[in-house]
Order: sequence, then structure tokens, then C-alpha cells
Amino acid sequence: MHRIVFLGPPGAGKGTQAAILASALGIPHLSTGDLLRAAVAGRTPLGLAAEEHMRAGRLVPDSIVLEILGQRLGRADAAAGFLLDGFPRNLAQAEALDRRTPLDVVVSFEIPTVLLLTRLTQRRTCPKCHTAYNLTTRPPKVPNRCDLDGTELMHRPDDRAEAVRTRLEVYRVETEPLLRFYRGRGLVRSVDATGSPEAVEARVRSAVG
Ligand code: AP5
Repeated sequence: MHRIVFLGPPGAGKGTQAAILASALGIPHLSTGDLLRAAVAGRTPLGLAAEEHMRAGRLVPDSIVLEILGQRLGRADAAAGFLLDGFPRNLAQAEALDRRTPLDVVVSFEIPTVLLLTRLTQRRTCPKCHTAYNLTTRPPKVPNRCDLDGTELMHRPDDRAEAVRTRLEVYRVETEPLLRFYRGRGLVRSVDATGSPEAVEARVRSAVG
């Protein structure tokens, strides 16, 4: 059984590595960011309530996130393991997760802030399959089109400089303290998230074991 959490600042490469590892392990990749963006795109009541928080780079209220994630975790494919990307983000979410399921490992992505700014401003994302590209390090084969399904790529509204600054500060104040919470349970494996995606992938695999 693999019950994995990826913890790290915005742009650290969690989504890129989560897609690879979840597919290799045959477990679902559960990204609360992707679930929320799908709810926003679908104009659902929860999506409409989340939209402004996301655009500004703030955390979405716990009640909304817990509702959306709870529905997804309850599906049959998550019963034999899961990879959580972007959840939990604060102590209340970590405690709610703790009440629902034990975890096997928390992978902490370690990276200097200066690299995050470049990665996020150069990111382009497929709104359909969520694949993340990068204008410098991982450009699409056809400009502005997803390699996998040809969909036009988007620049996420929260990758604007002002929202990125807010997201980094929110991470520092609300999410980083979770490392202490999970260290106390002996679950944290730190991974150097600098270098090529392939180099990071090898470190993540070794951390997960
Ligand atoms: P979310 O979607 O979770 O965003 P995030 O945590 O800010 O993380 P990112 O998706 O920005 O970065 P990433 O680490 O996945 O990096 P990626 O692999 O894409 O959350 C968005 C918003 O939703 C939040 O601000 C909040 O409003 C809300 N939200 C979500 N979850 C919530 C929760 N639990 N509670 C409350 N609110 C919540 O890589 C970034 C770029 O770098 C890409 O261009 C990629 O190609 C490139 N790259 C990746 N790896 C490398 C490498 N090794 N070298 C060079 N480039 C690389």
C-alpha cells in the first residue's frame, strides 16, 4: 500500500513528479489544485466559491477543499493507495486527513525560492489533462499546444507575479509548519528538487523506496 503526500512550495515540481510516480505505482494522483480548477471550469457551486481565493493566491477555505477531496478519496481507486499533491496545506487539513487515513511517507520538496519564480512564470498548463510544460525546460513540441491531446495551453491566472508572491508567503506561514507535524510522526523524506526533472525523479523514487 502506498499512501503518499507531496509537500513543497508552489513551483517545486510536485505535480510533474506526482504524475510520473503515481502512474509508475498504479495509484491515483490526487491534486487538490486540479480538482479545484476542474470545479471552477465546471462552474459548480464549490468551484464558484473557490475561484476568487485561487486567483489571488490564497488558500481556499478548508470546508470547500475537504468536501472536494473527501468525495475523491471516497472513490474505489483510492482504496489501495493514493498520492496527495497540494494537500494538506495547513494544520486543520492535516488533522482532518489524520482522522481519515494513516500515511506511509511525506516527501518534502526542497528548493531555493529564486528558482520557483522562474519555473512558475514560464509554466504553461494543459487545461484538459493538467500536464505542466515550461517554456525553457519542457517546451511543447508544437508551440502552445499540449503534446498529449493538442489542447491550447493556458497560463494559470495565479502564476502572475503578484499572486505568486502571495502563494509563497502562504506556503511559508501556513504549510511549511506541517513539516514539524509530520517529522514528529517520522514520516518526512526530504528531496533536493533542483536539477533536471529526471534527476529529481530518481531522488523521489529513492525517497519513496
Ligand atoms: P496547486 O495547484 O496545488 O498549486 P501549487 O501547490 O502552488 O503548486 P504548483 O502547481 O504551482 O507547482 P508544482 O509544485 O506542482 O510544480 P509543477 O510540477 O507544475 O494550488 C493552486 C491553488 O489552489 C492554491 O493557491 C489554492 O488557492 C488552491 N488550493 C489547492 N490545494 C489547496 C488546499 N489543500 N487547501 C486550500 N487551497 C488549495 O512545476 C512548475 C514548473 O516547473 C512547470 O513549468 C514545470 O514544467 C517546471 N519544472 C518541474 N520540474 C522541473 C525541474 N526539475 N527543472 C526545471 N523545471 C521544472
